[in-house]
Amino acid sequence: MGAPTSVNATPAAVIILAAGEGTRMKSATAKVLHRIGGLSLVGHAIRAARTTGAEHVEVVVRHQRDQVVEFCTTFDPALVVADQDEVKGTGRAVECGLAALPPDLSGTVLVTYGDTPLLSGATLVELAARHTDNGSAVTIVTAHVEDPTGYGRVLRDAEGGVAAVVEQKDATEAERAITEINSGIYAFDVAVLREALAQVGTDNVQGEKYLTDVVRIARESGRSVEAHVITDPWQTEGVNDRVQLANLGRVLNDRICERHMRSGVTIVDPATTWIDVDVTIGPDTTILPGTQLLGATSIGAGALIGPEVTLTDTEVGDEAEVTRAVALLAVVGARATVGPYSFLRPGTTLGADGKIGGFVETKNATIGAGAKVPHLSYAGDVTIGAGANIGAGTIFANYDGIAKHHTTIGKDSFVGSQTVVVSPVDVADGAYVAAGTVLTKDVEPGQIAVGRAGQRNVDDWVLRARGGTRTAAAAQAARAAGTRHTETTPAAAEGTA
Ligand code: UD1
Ligand code: CA
Repeated sequence: MGAPTSVNATPAAVIILAAGEGTRMKSATAKVLHRIGGLSLVGHAIRAARTTGAEHVEVVVRHQRDQVVEFCTTFDPALVVADQDEVKGTGRAVECGLAALPPDLSGTVLVTYGDTPLLSGATLVELAARHTDNGSAVTIVTAHVEDPTGYGRVLRDAEGGVAAVVEQKDATEAERAITEINSGIYAFDVAVLREALAQVGTDNVQGEKYLTDVVRIARESGRSVEAHVITDPWQTEGVNDRVQLANLGRVLNDRICERHMRSGVTIVDPATTWIDVDVTIGPDTTILPGTQLLGATSIGAGALIGPEVTLTDTEVGDEAEVTRAVALLAVVGARATVGPYSFLRPGTTLGADGKIGGFVETKNATIGAGAKVPHLSYAGDVTIGAGANIGAGTIFANYDGIAKHHTTIGKDSFVGSQTVVVSPVDVADGAYVAAGTVLTKDVEPGQIAVGRAGQRNVDDWVLRARGGTRTAAAAQAARAAGTRHTETTPAAAEGTA
Protein backbone atom coordinates (compact mmCIF):
# COMPACT_ATOMS: atom_id res chain seq x y z
CA MET A 1 0.00 0.00 0.00
CA GLY A 2 1.30 3.49 -0.89
CA ALA A 3 2.22 5.37 2.25
CA PRO A 4 0.32 8.64 2.40
CA THR A 5 2.58 11.38 3.65
CA SER A 6 -0.28 13.77 4.31
CA VAL A 7 -1.66 14.52 7.71
CA ASN A 8 -5.16 13.66 6.60
CA ALA A 9 -5.60 12.53 3.04
CA THR A 10 -8.64 10.41 3.79
CA PRO A 11 -11.27 11.35 1.23
CA ALA A 12 -14.70 12.36 2.47
CA ALA A 13 -16.42 10.18 -0.12
CA VAL A 14 -15.86 7.81 -3.00
CA ILE A 15 -18.50 7.88 -5.76
CA ILE A 16 -18.62 4.73 -7.89
CA LEU A 17 -20.38 5.26 -11.23
CA ALA A 18 -22.45 2.26 -12.27
CA ALA A 19 -25.49 3.70 -14.01
CA GLY A 20 -24.37 2.98 -17.58
CA GLU A 21 -26.17 0.47 -19.75
CA GLY A 22 -23.57 -2.15 -20.68
CA THR A 23 -25.34 -3.17 -23.91
CA ARG A 24 -22.26 -4.82 -25.35
CA MET A 25 -22.36 -7.53 -22.66
CA LYS A 26 -25.59 -8.81 -24.30
CA SER A 27 -26.69 -10.07 -20.91
CA ALA A 28 -29.74 -10.21 -18.68
CA THR A 29 -27.31 -9.64 -15.82
CA ALA A 30 -26.17 -6.07 -15.22
CA LYS A 31 -22.64 -5.51 -16.50
CA VAL A 32 -21.19 -4.62 -13.10
CA LEU A 33 -22.55 -7.87 -11.63
CA HIS A 34 -20.48 -10.06 -13.95
CA ARG A 35 -17.63 -11.60 -12.00
CA ILE A 36 -13.92 -12.06 -12.19
CA GLY A 37 -11.87 -13.71 -9.48
CA GLY A 38 -15.11 -14.81 -7.83
CA LEU A 39 -16.30 -11.26 -7.17
CA SER A 40 -18.55 -8.98 -9.22
CA LEU A 41 -16.97 -6.02 -10.99
CA VAL A 42 -18.72 -3.55 -8.70
CA GLY A 43 -17.68 -5.67 -5.70
CA HIS A 44 -14.05 -5.08 -6.68
CA ALA A 45 -14.77 -1.35 -7.01
CA ILE A 46 -16.44 -1.20 -3.58
CA ARG A 47 -13.51 -2.99 -1.95
CA ALA A 48 -10.97 -0.63 -3.48
CA ALA A 49 -13.09 2.34 -2.36
CA ARG A 50 -13.31 1.01 1.21
CA THR A 51 -9.51 0.80 1.39
CA THR A 52 -9.37 4.61 1.44
CA GLY A 53 -11.24 4.80 4.74
CA ALA A 54 -13.72 7.29 3.25
CA GLU A 55 -16.75 7.86 5.44
CA HIS A 56 -19.15 7.67 2.48
CA VAL A 57 -18.85 5.10 -0.27
CA GLU A 58 -21.58 5.53 -2.81
CA VAL A 59 -22.74 3.77 -5.94
CA VAL A 60 -24.69 5.61 -8.65
CA VAL A 61 -27.20 3.36 -10.41
CA ARG A 62 -29.82 3.46 -13.15
CA HIS A 63 -29.79 0.58 -15.64
CA GLN A 64 -30.87 -2.76 -14.11
CA ARG A 65 -31.00 -0.76 -10.92
CA ASP A 66 -32.71 -3.27 -8.63
CA GLN A 67 -30.27 -6.07 -9.43
CA VAL A 68 -27.30 -3.81 -8.82
CA VAL A 69 -28.70 -2.31 -5.61
CA GLU A 70 -29.60 -5.74 -4.25
CA PHE A 71 -26.06 -7.00 -4.72
CA CYS A 72 -24.36 -3.82 -3.48
CA THR A 73 -26.37 -3.40 -0.30
CA THR A 74 -25.95 -7.06 0.61
CA PHE A 75 -22.24 -6.90 -0.08
CA ASP A 76 -21.76 -3.64 1.82
CA PRO A 77 -24.78 -2.60 3.92
CA ALA A 78 -23.23 0.78 4.75
CA LEU A 79 -23.11 1.77 1.09
CA VAL A 80 -24.96 4.89 -0.07
CA VAL A 81 -27.12 4.36 -3.17
CA ALA A 82 -27.88 7.25 -5.55
CA ASP A 83 -30.19 7.09 -8.54
CA GLN A 84 -29.24 8.88 -11.73
CA ASP A 85 -32.14 10.54 -13.58
CA GLU A 86 -32.80 10.57 -17.33
CA VAL A 87 -30.08 13.11 -18.06
CA LYS A 88 -27.15 11.16 -19.48
CA GLY A 89 -23.45 11.31 -18.89
CA THR A 90 -20.76 10.81 -16.29
CA GLY A 91 -21.10 14.44 -15.17
CA ARG A 92 -24.78 13.97 -14.44
CA ALA A 93 -24.04 10.71 -12.64
CA VAL A 94 -21.66 12.52 -10.27
CA GLU A 95 -24.16 15.34 -9.80
CA CYS A 96 -26.82 12.82 -8.76
CA GLY A 97 -24.25 11.17 -6.54
CA LEU A 98 -23.44 14.42 -4.75
CA ALA A 99 -27.15 15.13 -4.24
CA ALA A 100 -27.44 11.95 -2.16
CA LEU A 101 -24.48 12.87 0.08
CA PRO A 102 -24.60 15.36 2.97
CA PRO A 103 -24.94 18.93 1.61
CA ASP A 104 -22.18 20.19 3.91
CA LEU A 105 -19.68 17.61 2.66
CA SER A 106 -16.22 19.12 2.30
CA GLY A 107 -12.75 17.93 1.38
CA THR A 108 -11.90 15.36 -1.27
CA VAL A 109 -14.27 13.25 -3.33
CA LEU A 110 -12.90 10.40 -5.41
CA VAL A 111 -14.74 9.20 -8.50
CA THR A 112 -14.28 5.67 -9.85
CA TYR A 113 -16.22 3.25 -12.07
CA GLY A 114 -18.12 0.11 -11.23
CA ASP A 115 -16.73 -1.64 -14.30
CA THR A 116 -13.00 -1.13 -13.66
CA PRO A 117 -12.14 -4.08 -11.43
CA LEU A 118 -8.35 -4.01 -11.38
CA LEU A 119 -8.10 -0.54 -9.89
CA SER A 120 -6.46 -1.16 -6.53
CA GLY A 121 -7.22 0.40 -3.21
CA ALA A 122 -3.53 1.33 -3.01
CA THR A 123 -3.84 3.44 -6.16
CA LEU A 124 -6.80 5.30 -4.68
CA VAL A 125 -4.92 5.89 -1.45
CA GLU A 126 -1.96 7.27 -3.45
CA LEU A 127 -4.28 9.44 -5.51
CA ALA A 128 -5.91 10.94 -2.42
CA ALA A 129 -2.52 11.52 -0.77
CA ARG A 130 -1.06 13.24 -3.80
CA HIS A 131 -4.18 15.37 -4.31
CA THR A 132 -4.07 16.52 -0.69
CA ASP A 133 -0.29 17.04 -0.57
CA ASN A 134 -0.36 19.22 -3.68
CA GLY A 135 -3.45 21.10 -2.60
CA SER A 136 -4.99 20.48 -6.03
CA ALA A 137 -8.59 21.18 -6.96
CA VAL A 138 -8.70 18.32 -9.46
CA THR A 139 -6.34 15.35 -9.84
CA ILE A 140 -7.02 13.13 -12.81
CA VAL A 141 -5.55 9.66 -13.13
CA THR A 142 -4.06 9.20 -16.58
CA ALA A 143 -1.99 6.56 -18.35
CA HIS A 144 0.03 6.31 -21.53
CA VAL A 145 -1.31 3.45 -23.62
CA GLU A 146 -0.41 1.91 -26.97
CA ASP A 147 -3.95 2.01 -28.32
CA PRO A 148 -5.95 4.94 -26.97
CA THR A 149 -8.99 4.26 -29.18
CA GLY A 150 -12.25 4.97 -27.39
CA TYR A 151 -10.75 6.83 -24.44
CA GLY A 152 -10.85 10.52 -23.64
CA ARG A 153 -7.48 12.11 -24.49
CA VAL A 154 -5.59 14.38 -22.11
CA LEU A 155 -4.75 17.77 -23.63
CA ARG A 156 -1.66 19.39 -22.14
CA ASP A 157 -0.78 23.09 -22.38
CA ALA A 158 2.58 24.57 -23.40
CA GLU A 159 3.88 24.19 -19.81
CA GLY A 160 2.84 20.55 -19.72
CA GLY A 161 -0.11 21.17 -17.41
CA VAL A 162 -3.45 19.45 -17.93
CA ALA A 163 -5.72 21.74 -19.92
CA ALA A 164 -8.70 19.57 -20.79
CA VAL A 165 -9.95 16.11 -21.70
CA VAL A 166 -11.50 15.56 -25.10
CA GLU A 167 -13.64 12.51 -25.85
CA GLN A 168 -12.72 10.27 -28.79
CA LYS A 169 -15.98 11.19 -30.51
CA ASP A 170 -15.37 14.92 -30.14
CA ALA A 171 -11.63 14.84 -30.89
CA THR A 172 -9.85 16.18 -33.96
CA GLU A 173 -7.51 13.96 -35.94
CA ALA A 174 -4.51 15.50 -34.14
CA GLU A 175 -6.09 15.02 -30.71
CA ARG A 176 -6.81 11.38 -31.48
CA ALA A 177 -3.08 10.84 -31.97
CA ILE A 178 -2.51 11.64 -28.28
CA THR A 179 -1.76 8.46 -26.31
CA GLU A 180 -2.23 9.83 -22.80
CA ILE A 181 -5.74 8.78 -21.80
CA ASN A 182 -8.19 9.74 -19.10
CA SER A 183 -8.71 6.71 -16.86
CA GLY A 184 -11.99 8.11 -15.57
CA ILE A 185 -10.67 8.08 -12.00
CA TYR A 186 -10.34 11.42 -10.26
CA ALA A 187 -9.91 13.25 -6.99
CA PHE A 188 -11.88 16.48 -6.68
CA ASP A 189 -12.23 19.18 -4.13
CA VAL A 190 -15.94 18.83 -3.53
CA ALA A 191 -16.69 22.58 -3.65
CA VAL A 192 -14.89 22.99 -6.98
CA LEU A 193 -16.65 19.90 -8.32
CA ARG A 194 -20.10 21.22 -7.39
CA GLU A 195 -19.40 24.63 -8.86
CA ALA A 196 -17.98 23.26 -12.12
CA LEU A 197 -20.72 20.64 -12.63
CA ALA A 198 -23.30 23.42 -12.48
CA GLN A 199 -21.64 24.87 -15.57
CA VAL A 200 -21.34 21.65 -17.58
CA GLY A 201 -23.66 21.51 -20.60
CA THR A 202 -24.53 18.81 -23.11
CA ASP A 203 -23.13 20.50 -26.20
CA ASN A 204 -21.13 17.56 -27.54
CA VAL A 205 -21.46 14.75 -30.07
CA GLN A 206 -23.16 12.43 -27.53
CA GLY A 207 -25.44 15.10 -26.04
CA GLU A 208 -24.31 14.05 -22.56
CA LYS A 209 -23.17 15.88 -19.46
CA TYR A 210 -19.48 14.99 -19.45
CA LEU A 211 -17.62 14.80 -16.14
CA THR A 212 -14.48 15.48 -18.17
CA ASP A 213 -15.69 19.05 -18.79
CA VAL A 214 -15.02 19.74 -15.11
CA VAL A 215 -11.31 19.53 -15.88
CA ARG A 216 -11.45 22.35 -18.44
CA ILE A 217 -13.85 24.48 -16.36
CA ALA A 218 -11.71 24.16 -13.22
CA ARG A 219 -8.59 25.02 -15.22
CA GLU A 220 -10.25 28.06 -16.85
CA SER A 221 -11.34 29.37 -13.47
CA GLY A 222 -7.74 29.28 -12.33
CA ARG A 223 -7.84 26.17 -10.14
CA SER A 224 -4.94 23.78 -10.01
CA VAL A 225 -5.51 20.68 -12.07
CA GLU A 226 -2.98 17.88 -12.00
CA ALA A 227 -2.48 14.49 -13.60
CA HIS A 228 -1.51 11.42 -11.62
CA VAL A 229 0.07 9.26 -14.30
CA ILE A 230 0.03 5.59 -13.48
CA THR A 231 2.27 3.02 -15.10
CA ASP A 232 -0.04 0.04 -14.76
CA PRO A 233 -2.71 0.68 -17.39
CA TRP A 234 -4.60 -2.53 -16.49
CA GLN A 235 -5.83 -0.69 -13.42
CA THR A 236 -7.76 1.70 -15.63
CA GLU A 237 -9.19 -0.88 -18.05
CA GLY A 238 -12.95 -1.15 -18.04
CA VAL A 239 -15.14 -4.04 -19.04
CA ASN A 240 -17.52 -3.31 -21.91
CA ASP A 241 -17.92 -6.78 -23.40
CA ARG A 242 -17.21 -10.40 -22.55
CA VAL A 243 -13.89 -10.42 -24.35
CA GLN A 244 -12.63 -7.71 -22.02
CA LEU A 245 -14.21 -9.56 -19.10
CA ALA A 246 -12.11 -12.63 -19.92
CA ASN A 247 -8.96 -10.57 -20.50
CA LEU A 248 -9.27 -8.77 -17.18
CA GLY A 249 -10.14 -12.04 -15.47
CA ARG A 250 -6.91 -13.52 -16.78
CA VAL A 251 -4.83 -10.53 -15.65
CA LEU A 252 -6.45 -10.59 -12.20
CA ASN A 253 -5.75 -14.30 -11.93
CA ASP A 254 -2.10 -13.77 -12.90
CA ARG A 255 -1.84 -11.19 -10.13
CA ILE A 256 -3.48 -13.45 -7.57
CA CYS A 257 -1.20 -16.37 -8.51
CA GLU A 258 1.84 -14.11 -8.32
CA ARG A 259 0.84 -12.91 -4.86
CA HIS A 260 0.59 -16.52 -3.61
CA MET A 261 3.87 -17.55 -5.25
CA ARG A 262 5.63 -14.60 -3.63
CA SER A 263 4.32 -15.73 -0.27
CA GLY A 264 5.69 -19.24 -0.64
CA VAL A 265 3.16 -21.27 -2.62
CA THR A 266 4.37 -23.35 -5.58
CA ILE A 267 2.02 -23.01 -8.55
CA VAL A 268 3.29 -25.31 -11.26
CA ASP A 269 1.15 -23.81 -14.03
CA PRO A 270 -0.42 -20.42 -13.29
CA ALA A 271 -2.01 -20.45 -16.76
CA THR A 272 -4.34 -23.32 -15.81
CA THR A 273 -4.70 -22.48 -12.12
CA TRP A 274 -7.62 -20.23 -11.19
CA ILE A 275 -7.74 -18.73 -7.73
CA ASP A 276 -10.48 -16.44 -6.45
CA VAL A 277 -9.56 -13.23 -4.64
CA ASP A 278 -10.40 -14.38 -1.13
CA VAL A 279 -8.68 -17.77 -1.17
CA THR A 280 -5.90 -18.29 1.39
CA ILE A 281 -3.03 -20.75 0.92
CA GLY A 282 -0.32 -21.67 3.41
CA PRO A 283 3.40 -21.70 2.59
CA ASP A 284 5.02 -24.69 0.90
CA THR A 285 1.75 -25.86 -0.54
CA THR A 286 2.00 -27.04 -4.15
CA ILE A 287 -0.79 -26.46 -6.65
CA LEU A 288 -0.69 -28.74 -9.68
CA PRO A 289 -2.14 -27.81 -13.12
CA GLY A 290 -5.83 -27.53 -13.87
CA THR A 291 -6.84 -26.52 -10.35
CA GLN A 292 -9.54 -24.03 -9.37
CA LEU A 293 -9.68 -22.68 -5.84
CA LEU A 294 -12.91 -20.77 -5.48
CA GLY A 295 -14.94 -18.70 -3.05
CA ALA A 296 -13.78 -18.75 0.56
CA THR A 297 -11.53 -21.77 0.14
CA SER A 298 -8.56 -21.99 2.49
CA ILE A 299 -5.60 -24.34 2.16
CA GLY A 300 -3.09 -25.06 4.90
CA ALA A 301 0.69 -25.28 4.67
CA GLY A 302 2.58 -28.04 2.90
CA ALA A 303 -0.49 -29.40 1.15
CA LEU A 304 -0.58 -30.88 -2.35
CA ILE A 305 -3.58 -29.85 -4.44
CA GLY A 306 -4.22 -31.06 -7.99
CA PRO A 307 -4.00 -31.82 -10.74
CA GLU A 308 -7.57 -31.10 -11.85
CA VAL A 309 -9.10 -30.15 -8.54
CA THR A 310 -12.02 -27.75 -8.03
CA LEU A 311 -12.57 -26.61 -4.45
CA THR A 312 -15.34 -24.18 -3.57
CA ASP A 313 -15.72 -22.75 -0.05
CA THR A 314 -13.65 -25.68 1.18
CA GLU A 315 -11.07 -25.89 3.96
CA VAL A 316 -8.03 -28.13 3.54
CA GLY A 317 -5.62 -28.77 6.42
CA ASP A 318 -1.84 -28.78 6.53
CA GLU A 319 -0.08 -31.47 4.50
CA ALA A 320 -3.30 -32.85 3.08
CA GLU A 321 -3.37 -34.19 -0.50
CA VAL A 322 -6.28 -33.68 -2.86
CA THR A 323 -6.09 -35.15 -6.37
CA ARG A 324 -8.61 -34.85 -9.23
CA ALA A 325 -11.53 -34.06 -6.97
CA VAL A 326 -14.45 -31.67 -6.69
CA ALA A 327 -15.44 -30.32 -3.28
CA LEU A 328 -18.06 -27.84 -2.16
CA LEU A 329 -18.43 -26.64 1.44
CA ALA A 330 -16.24 -29.47 2.69
CA VAL A 331 -13.48 -29.75 5.28
CA VAL A 332 -10.41 -31.95 4.75
CA GLY A 333 -8.27 -32.51 7.82
CA ALA A 334 -4.51 -32.28 8.21
CA ARG A 335 -2.58 -35.01 6.35
CA ALA A 336 -5.82 -36.48 4.99
CA THR A 337 -5.98 -37.66 1.37
CA VAL A 338 -8.76 -37.26 -1.18
CA GLY A 339 -9.16 -38.68 -4.67
CA PRO A 340 -8.61 -39.31 -7.43
CA TYR A 341 -12.06 -38.83 -8.96
CA SER A 342 -14.06 -38.04 -5.86
CA PHE A 343 -16.90 -35.63 -5.16
CA LEU A 344 -17.19 -34.07 -1.71
CA ARG A 345 -20.57 -32.40 -1.39
CA PRO A 346 -21.67 -29.92 1.30
CA GLY A 347 -21.24 -31.04 4.88
CA THR A 348 -18.38 -33.41 4.28
CA THR A 349 -15.80 -33.32 7.07
CA LEU A 350 -12.83 -35.61 6.76
CA GLY A 351 -10.74 -35.94 9.93
CA ALA A 352 -6.99 -35.69 10.24
CA ASP A 353 -5.14 -38.54 8.50
CA GLY A 354 -8.42 -39.78 7.04
CA LYS A 355 -8.96 -40.94 3.49
CA ILE A 356 -11.61 -40.47 0.83
CA GLY A 357 -10.22 -42.52 -2.02
CA GLY A 358 -11.09 -43.06 -5.67
CA PHE A 359 -14.61 -42.71 -7.07
CA VAL A 360 -16.22 -41.83 -3.75
CA GLU A 361 -19.12 -39.40 -3.28
CA THR A 362 -19.82 -37.95 0.15
CA LYS A 363 -22.46 -35.58 1.49
CA ASN A 364 -23.22 -34.51 5.05
CA ALA A 365 -20.63 -37.04 6.14
CA THR A 366 -18.41 -36.71 9.19
CA ILE A 367 -15.51 -39.08 8.77
CA GLY A 368 -13.33 -39.39 11.86
CA ALA A 369 -9.60 -39.08 12.27
CA GLY A 370 -7.77 -41.83 10.43
CA ALA A 371 -11.02 -43.32 9.09
CA LYS A 372 -11.08 -44.49 5.48
CA VAL A 373 -13.61 -44.65 2.68
CA PRO A 374 -11.10 -45.79 0.10
CA HIS A 375 -12.96 -47.06 -2.98
CA LEU A 376 -16.14 -46.66 -5.03
CA SER A 377 -18.58 -45.64 -2.30
CA TYR A 378 -21.45 -43.29 -1.59
CA ALA A 379 -21.41 -41.94 1.96
CA GLY A 380 -24.33 -39.61 2.61
CA ASP A 381 -25.81 -38.60 6.00
CA VAL A 382 -23.34 -40.61 8.02
CA THR A 383 -20.99 -40.24 10.94
CA ILE A 384 -18.01 -42.58 10.67
CA GLY A 385 -15.92 -43.02 13.80
CA ALA A 386 -12.18 -42.54 14.04
CA GLY A 387 -10.16 -45.37 12.58
CA ALA A 388 -13.13 -47.09 10.93
CA ASN A 389 -12.72 -48.68 7.50
CA ILE A 390 -15.48 -48.73 4.92
CA GLY A 391 -15.01 -51.48 2.33
CA ALA A 392 -14.98 -50.99 -1.43
CA GLY A 393 -18.33 -50.37 -3.02
CA THR A 394 -20.21 -49.66 0.21
CA ILE A 395 -23.34 -47.60 -0.27
CA PHE A 396 -25.07 -45.70 2.50
CA ALA A 397 -28.69 -45.87 1.33
CA ASN A 398 -29.80 -42.72 3.13
CA TYR A 399 -33.01 -42.02 1.20
CA ASP A 400 -36.15 -44.11 1.42
CA GLY A 401 -37.96 -42.16 -1.25
CA ILE A 402 -39.55 -39.81 1.26
CA ALA A 403 -36.98 -38.82 3.85
CA LYS A 404 -33.22 -38.85 4.38
CA HIS A 405 -31.90 -40.87 7.34
CA HIS A 406 -28.65 -40.79 9.25
CA THR A 407 -26.34 -43.67 10.17
CA THR A 408 -23.47 -43.93 12.62
CA ILE A 409 -20.51 -46.26 12.20
CA GLY A 410 -18.51 -46.66 15.43
CA LYS A 411 -14.87 -46.09 16.11
CA ASP A 412 -12.44 -48.65 14.66
CA SER A 413 -15.29 -50.63 13.12
CA PHE A 414 -14.99 -52.46 9.82
CA VAL A 415 -17.63 -52.52 7.11
CA GLY A 416 -17.06 -55.21 4.46
CA SER A 417 -17.07 -54.52 0.75
CA GLN A 418 -20.27 -54.05 -1.20
CA THR A 419 -22.36 -53.46 1.89
CA VAL A 420 -25.61 -51.57 1.55
CA VAL A 421 -26.26 -49.74 4.80
CA VAL A 422 -29.99 -49.08 4.88
CA SER A 423 -30.19 -45.96 7.05
CA PRO A 424 -30.97 -45.29 9.81
CA VAL A 425 -28.85 -47.90 11.56
CA ASP A 426 -26.16 -47.83 14.24
CA VAL A 427 -22.96 -49.82 14.08
CA ALA A 428 -21.21 -49.70 17.44
CA ASP A 429 -17.52 -49.14 18.12
CA GLY A 430 -15.45 -52.22 17.39
CA ALA A 431 -17.99 -54.07 15.23
CA TYR A 432 -17.81 -55.82 11.87
CA VAL A 433 -20.22 -56.01 8.97
CA ALA A 434 -19.66 -58.89 6.54
CA ALA A 435 -19.09 -58.11 2.87
CA GLY A 436 -22.19 -58.04 0.74
CA THR A 437 -24.50 -57.42 3.69
CA VAL A 438 -27.69 -55.46 3.30
CA LEU A 439 -27.53 -53.93 6.77
CA THR A 440 -30.90 -53.11 8.32
CA LYS A 441 -30.32 -53.74 12.05
CA ASP A 442 -28.02 -52.17 14.62
CA VAL A 443 -24.75 -53.96 15.40
CA GLU A 444 -23.39 -54.16 18.96
CA PRO A 445 -19.72 -53.88 20.02
CA GLY A 446 -17.78 -57.00 19.12
CA GLN A 447 -20.46 -58.45 16.85
CA ILE A 448 -20.23 -59.24 13.17
CA ALA A 449 -23.40 -58.73 11.17
CA VAL A 450 -23.85 -61.08 8.24
CA GLY A 451 -26.85 -60.20 6.17
CA ARG A 452 -26.76 -61.98 2.85
CA ALA A 453 -28.04 -65.27 1.32
CA GLY A 454 -25.91 -68.23 2.43
CA GLN A 455 -23.74 -69.86 -0.23
CA ARG A 456 -24.95 -73.21 -1.68
CA ASN A 457 -22.62 -75.36 -3.90
CA VAL A 458 -24.37 -77.85 -6.22
CA ASP A 459 -22.18 -80.84 -7.12
CA ASP A 460 -21.79 -81.78 -10.82
CA TRP A 461 -23.97 -78.94 -12.05
CA VAL A 462 -21.47 -77.94 -14.77
CA LEU A 463 -21.20 -81.48 -16.10
CA ARG A 464 -24.99 -81.87 -16.17
CA ALA A 465 -26.12 -78.49 -17.33
CA ARG A 466 -23.10 -77.45 -19.43
CA GLY A 467 -21.85 -80.81 -20.74
CA GLY A 468 -19.57 -80.56 -23.76
CA THR A 469 -18.39 -77.00 -23.01
CA ARG A 470 -14.82 -75.86 -22.32
CA THR A 471 -15.84 -75.34 -18.72
CA ALA A 472 -17.06 -78.92 -18.38
CA ALA A 473 -13.81 -80.19 -19.92
CA ALA A 474 -11.79 -78.12 -17.45
CA ALA A 475 -13.83 -79.54 -14.57
CA GLN A 476 -13.19 -83.09 -15.73
CA ALA A 477 -9.47 -82.45 -16.16
CA ALA A 478 -9.21 -80.86 -12.71
CA ARG A 479 -10.97 -83.82 -11.15
CA ALA A 480 -8.72 -86.28 -12.94
CA ALA A 481 -5.70 -84.38 -11.59
CA GLY A 482 -7.23 -84.44 -8.13
CA THR A 483 -7.25 -80.66 -7.70
CA ARG A 484 -10.73 -80.07 -6.28
CA HIS A 485 -11.18 -77.07 -4.05
CA THR A 486 -13.73 -78.41 -1.63
CA GLU A 487 -12.28 -76.72 1.42
CA THR A 488 -12.93 -73.01 1.81
CA THR A 489 -10.95 -70.84 4.21
CA PRO A 490 -12.75 -69.35 7.25
CA ALA A 491 -11.97 -65.83 6.01
CA ALA A 492 -13.57 -66.44 2.63
CA ALA A 493 -16.59 -67.96 4.35
CA GLU A 494 -17.09 -64.80 6.38
CA GLY A 495 -16.57 -62.86 3.22
CA THR A 496 -14.86 -60.00 5.02
CA ALA A 497 -11.91 -59.67 2.70
C1 UD1 B 1 -15.38 7.82 -19.94
C2 UD1 B 1 -14.70 9.19 -20.01
C3 UD1 B 1 -13.45 9.09 -20.85
C4 UD1 B 1 -12.51 8.06 -20.24
C5 UD1 B 1 -13.22 6.72 -20.08
C6 UD1 B 1 -12.36 5.77 -19.29
C7 UD1 B 1 -16.47 10.88 -19.88
C8 UD1 B 1 -17.32 11.80 -20.65
N1 UD1 B 1 -15.61 10.14 -20.59
O1 UD1 B 1 -15.74 7.48 -21.25
O2 UD1 B 1 -12.78 10.34 -20.89
O3 UD1 B 1 -11.37 7.89 -21.06
O4 UD1 B 1 -14.46 6.89 -19.35
O5 UD1 B 1 -12.94 4.52 -19.25
O6 UD1 B 1 -16.55 10.82 -18.68
N2 UD1 B 1 -21.90 6.10 -16.29
C9 UD1 B 1 -22.93 6.49 -15.47
N3 UD1 B 1 -23.90 7.28 -15.97
C10 UD1 B 1 -23.90 7.71 -17.26
C11 UD1 B 1 -22.83 7.32 -18.09
C12 UD1 B 1 -21.84 6.52 -17.57
O7 UD1 B 1 -22.97 6.09 -14.30
O8 UD1 B 1 -24.82 8.43 -17.65
C13 UD1 B 1 -20.86 5.23 -15.74
C14 UD1 B 1 -20.81 3.90 -16.46
O9 UD1 B 1 -21.63 2.96 -15.83
C15 UD1 B 1 -19.35 3.54 -16.35
C16 UD1 B 1 -18.64 4.88 -16.33
O10 UD1 B 1 -19.60 5.83 -15.95
O11 UD1 B 1 -19.05 2.88 -15.15
C17 UD1 B 1 -18.03 5.23 -17.67
O12 UD1 B 1 -19.04 5.33 -18.63
P1 UD1 B 1 -18.76 5.04 -20.14
O13 UD1 B 1 -20.01 5.29 -20.91
O14 UD1 B 1 -18.11 3.72 -20.30
O15 UD1 B 1 -17.73 6.22 -20.47
P2 UD1 B 1 -16.74 6.27 -21.67
O16 UD1 B 1 -17.47 6.72 -22.87
O17 UD1 B 1 -15.97 5.03 -21.75
CA1 CA C 1 -16.17 2.72 -20.89
